[in-house]
Amino acid sequence: MMTLPTATNSFSATIKDLIEYPKSGIFSKILLKDNNSQYSLFCLAAGTEIDEHTSTRNAVITVVEGRGNLNLEGKDIDLTPGTLVFMAANAPHALQAQENLAFILALSEHLPAKKGLTQTNIDIVKSTAPVIKEHGKQITTRMYEIMFTTHPEVKEQFDMSAQANGTQPAKLAAAIYGYATHIDDLDALKAMINKIAHRHVQTHVLPEQYSIVGECLLQAIKDVLGDAATQEVMTAWRQAYQVLADVFINREQQIYSTNHCN
Ligand code: HEM
Repeated sequence: MMTLPTATNSFSATIKDLIEYPKSGIFSKILLKDNNSQYSLFCLAAGTEIDEHTSTRNAVITVVEGRGNLNLEGKDIDLTPGTLVFMAANAPHALQAQENLAFILALSEHLPAKKGLTQTNIDIVKSTAPVIKEHGKQITTRMYEIMFTTHPEVKEQFDMSAQANGTQPAKLAAAIYGYATHIDDLDALKAMINKIAHRHVQTHVLPEQYSIVGECLLQAIKDVLGDAATQEVMTAWRQAYQVLADVFINREQQIYSTNHCN
């Protein structure tokens, strides 16, 4: 493989000469990087999948060769040589390489994570309140099942008898239903949020654990709701969860720093 000069020197290259596929998975190489932007070459072996995620940077994908599918905010985009895609910061996306796939990814500077929710996503989350009410406990029971299997280390923070007798899944289901119905009026949930935040501080919940609970909860919603969990519903709940997680993280930070646990 050709060695590239640093970002301080001008240079040119033939992209095809830089392409190198691994037997499986992803090979990536940073072509150019400065304080604000980054250009990388991604080479994905046929069959490689990247699960849905978000980035805090605006991004442009330019496909060089091969074929794949990009799911961007719930819409499928065919990736073929010459396809250019702009992905706005914080837009959820997932990728599959149907053949060996090479593309250039250009990233802008980091943008602050999007605060607040779009009206469309507020409406979608509210429209799911009746199904959350009906299947809430099933969803939260499934969420704990996934979390305790994939992250057994969190078990020690929980009172496992409250899991076994169903009280904790029921409390979480009630909180999620409350959020679905009052997502645009968080003041109505102040007392509930405060109570939960204090319990979280007592049990040493950390900010970085919110993404674990979030992923497990979204998976549980998918598992329980099946076809009703459309891409739009999942995208709305992903954004909604992030907003609620930030509310808890901030409140818990205040409690931790003043150390008033009760
Ligand atoms: C937005 C996300 C979350 C919601 C809506 C939520 C909701 C709740 C609720 C309703 C309770 C019961 C509070 C009470 O007894 O009054 C609770 C307790 C608890 N939560 Fe969360 N929680 C969230 C995130 C997390 C995270 C990230 C963790 C970290 C692992 C966590 C760990 C716990 C623990 C350990 C308890 C105590 C449970 C017990 O007593 O067994 N929660 N949460």
